[in-house]
Amino acid sequence: MNIAVNPELNENSHQTIYLKDYTPPSFEVLSIDLSIQVFDDHTLVHSKLVMQRLTSGDLILCGRDLELLNISLNGNALTPQDYEIDPEQLIIKNAPDQAEFAISVKIHPESNTQLEGLYQAGNLFVTQNEPEGFRKITFFPDRPDILTVFTTRIEADKKYPTLLANGNLVEKGELSDNRHFAVWHDPTKKPSYLFAAVIGDLAVLKDSFTTMEGRHVSLEIYALAQDLPKCHVAMQALKDSMKWDEDVYGRPYDLDNYMIVAVSQFNMGAMENKGLNIFNTVCVLADPEVTTDPAMFYVKSTIAHEYFHNWTGNRITCRDWFQLCLKEGFTVFRDQSFSTTLQSPAVQRIDDVSSLKSVQFAEDAGPLSHPPRPDHFVEINNFYTATVYDKGAEIARMMANLLGPEKFRQGTDEYFRRHDGQAVTVEDLVDSLSDGSGVDLRNFLPWYSQPGTPCVKGRGSYDADAKTYTLTLSQSTAKRHNYPEPQPLPIPVGVALFDKETGEQLTLNSTVLKQSEVAENNIKDGIFVLDQAEQTVVFEQVNAEPVVSLLRNFSAPVLLDFDYSDEDLAFLLEHETNGFNQWQAAQMLLERVLLQDHNPAVYLNAIAKALPQVAKDDALLATRLLDIPSENYLASRIDQEYDPAVVHQKRDAVLNALADRLKDYWADAYQSLPIVEFKDNSVEMGKRAYRNMVLGFAIRAGVEGALDWASEQYDNAVCMTERLGALRHLVWNKANNAQDKLDDFYKRFKHEDLALDQWFAVQAGNPQGSVQVARELMEHPEFDWGTPNRIRSVTGNFSGNPVLVWTTEGMQFYTEIAKRLDQQNPVLGSRILQFLSRWYTLKEPLRSEAKNILQGLKGEVNSTSVCETLNNVLKA
Ligand code: ARG
Ligand code: ZN
Repeated sequence: MNIAVNPELNENSHQTIYLKDYTPPSFEVLSIDLSIQVFDDHTLVHSKLVMQRLTSGDLILCGRDLELLNISLNGNALTPQDYEIDPEQLIIKNAPDQAEFAISVKIHPESNTQLEGLYQAGNLFVTQNEPEGFRKITFFPDRPDILTVFTTRIEADKKYPTLLANGNLVEKGELSDNRHFAVWHDPTKKPSYLFAAVIGDLAVLKDSFTTMEGRHVSLEIYALAQDLPKCHVAMQALKDSMKWDEDVYGRPYDLDNYMIVAVSQFNMGAMENKGLNIFNTVCVLADPEVTTDPAMFYVKSTIAHEYFHNWTGNRITCRDWFQLCLKEGFTVFRDQSFSTTLQSPAVQRIDDVSSLKSVQFAEDAGPLSHPPRPDHFVEINNFYTATVYDKGAEIARMMANLLGPEKFRQGTDEYFRRHDGQAVTVEDLVDSLSDGSGVDLRNFLPWYSQPGTPCVKGRGSYDADAKTYTLTLSQSTAKRHNYPEPQPLPIPVGVALFDKETGEQLTLNSTVLKQSEVAENNIKDGIFVLDQAEQTVVFEQVNAEPVVSLLRNFSAPVLLDFDYSDEDLAFLLEHETNGFNQWQAAQMLLERVLLQDHNPAVYLNAIAKALPQVAKDDALLATRLLDIPSENYLASRIDQEYDPAVVHQKRDAVLNALADRLKDYWADAYQSLPIVEFKDNSVEMGKRAYRNMVLGFAIRAGVEGALDWASEQYDNAVCMTERLGALRHLVWNKANNAQDKLDDFYKRFKHEDLALDQWFAVQAGNPQGSVQVARELMEHPEFDWGTPNRIRSVTGNFSGNPVLVWTTEGMQFYTEIAKRLDQQNPVLGSRILQFLSRWYTLKEPLRSEAKNILQGLKGEVNSTSVCETLNNVLKA
């Protein structure tokens, strides 16, 4: 990005960019007229930029990998003496206050494998400009605080009938040489990262939506003709999202059309380009025969996410890329809230927290730890992270929960009122929420700038004579490289007391809260805001000995270390009033068993008691209650002498014990869940998930015939959830017919890319597999280095087996892929390298070996993305 650059270079001579160096642009762009002419072996881009001086300073246009054909300023052709040019930018000193540029460049989308800027994917040309792709299309001040009006003319051969750009179609026509063109005008000012263009041969599904303001919006989803029947789920989710944002935030859509385009080669999930979203096929196509329930759910929440960006991201955007979580954190919070309307709130919260803990906590515990708003980076692409997205969402959630729905709405109304059309900062959001609601939330700002997961420690004691319960909590956060000494943060801790005898919840309202050090409004509605290093609360009129429940609904993104007995946690598993809190109690118990060698008996008894009833009421919740923390999550809690084999064995032992303990139950439960007609609702989704889970335990318990049930389920499946669930059990348990079923699956779905990804995934993720298996999958004729989904289906699923990853061959497997992708697709290469980030926690001799392998990669890679990750990973 184009803010003043610190001269400091890292060892690969990549520049580090600092938040503190932000300077406003010296020129604004009043408008851009863009013309894109696509040919088979090159593309020409002509632009007309009308620029106007704002402050003194050079005029800077970003540009990367562009062949400059000609450039003129206010009608005069410029010669190389008139500007300075380097691989990243074109600088004009002493530019006039009004500067009109005409620039022509040549680019090569047909050989762009990095999937940034304009690139060809099969028969389709699409753009991905966030964060810094637009500079690979033409010279432009490619920074999010430059907003302008785009008019785009696209011209191509008629073999590409689909020509799309943002906004409204204003003209189209025929040209000679079998070519045609279309002109689009987007009336809304937007930054360049939201520009999009699509050139191809796509079919379209159409629908419409009328907004609360009476605007008639045409909705269009573009995909390959064969995929069009799979676009209905996304279309419904789009309409639901549009309605939801009106109902909950009062935000209507603002253009006459909303287009979504599906592309199978895409680095991320999807992109919120103004009025023209571009989606990875995996985030838009859904059909029960080829899509599992969780994947279908993900389609709906991604559609919602990108739609919600129209207000939180597009109409109000980021001043600079350090503020990324301003739009991402808030928008994730919004899509999570929307998703709560699609399944039980408890399960939604479990899924969000579960991924936060396994991915974001792990990230924050390692060498790639950074605050939700980082203060420096080398490559911004490396900061589209779980911390920015998911911890960012948790910060928004904490503020929203403290305000409650009404005041939060006043706060967001104020945010939209103040900043519509602007590029702003995290401070602007928190100021608006505070001023709009009348509740000062500015003490939450340090959450954005401090890295690391705070740990809340605590103890409680009951005084039977005084009838008081005294709760003492303290917080601490580990210091992180490059960041100042951590400060105490405001941590909302959800609190409830339960009568130890009867299990009933004690109403906190009837108790008098007396605290010396805690401000009156720090404890309200069962939320205690811990904002000092240590605080004590005394609950009065507690007439019976209580069990305290803390961090209810995961009220803050922290680790909790409370001096519960295992029995207290079992009690909470049984008596807590919502499924999330029950799940949380089960997870805490399991962590003690798996990380601290507690006896599993208490957990086993509690879960055996609770499960059957929960399964009757809410099968999806029952499925989640059976979650055993993943090996990678457990590893993230081990800071040294990590032995993957030991963790694996312990986890396996718990699974076995659980399977044995409920052996008869699994058999009955499976029989009582016959395959029925597919319905897309959370009750049926729950039954399908539970059936797969139960089947796995039945097989593990050695229930007679259980593997046959899996074969039958595979054969009789009416949807992918059932078929894939059965296939996984057969393959992972080395069933005699596993290979037959794999072959059958391959034949059935050979022409369905997303289903075929699952075929790769099942084999790569097999705990009984090997590096050799993963390597062979990558040599398979259907493996494709140009399709990130396919690469991830192997690398991502293989990473679920740390016992295999943390071997010489496993580590080399990942470093080789990172090296291969370094030039071809550095954004993806960097992500794959991140699988090795916790190498330094390994026990010897693996640790030294890991270090050697990673060091061996130095000098072999050059991209900013991969180098920054490698340097950080090696700093551990
Ligand atoms: N803004 C997109 C989203 O909805 C993500 C785009 C990220 N792209 C990238 N190249 N890092 O979350
Ligand atoms: Zn987003």
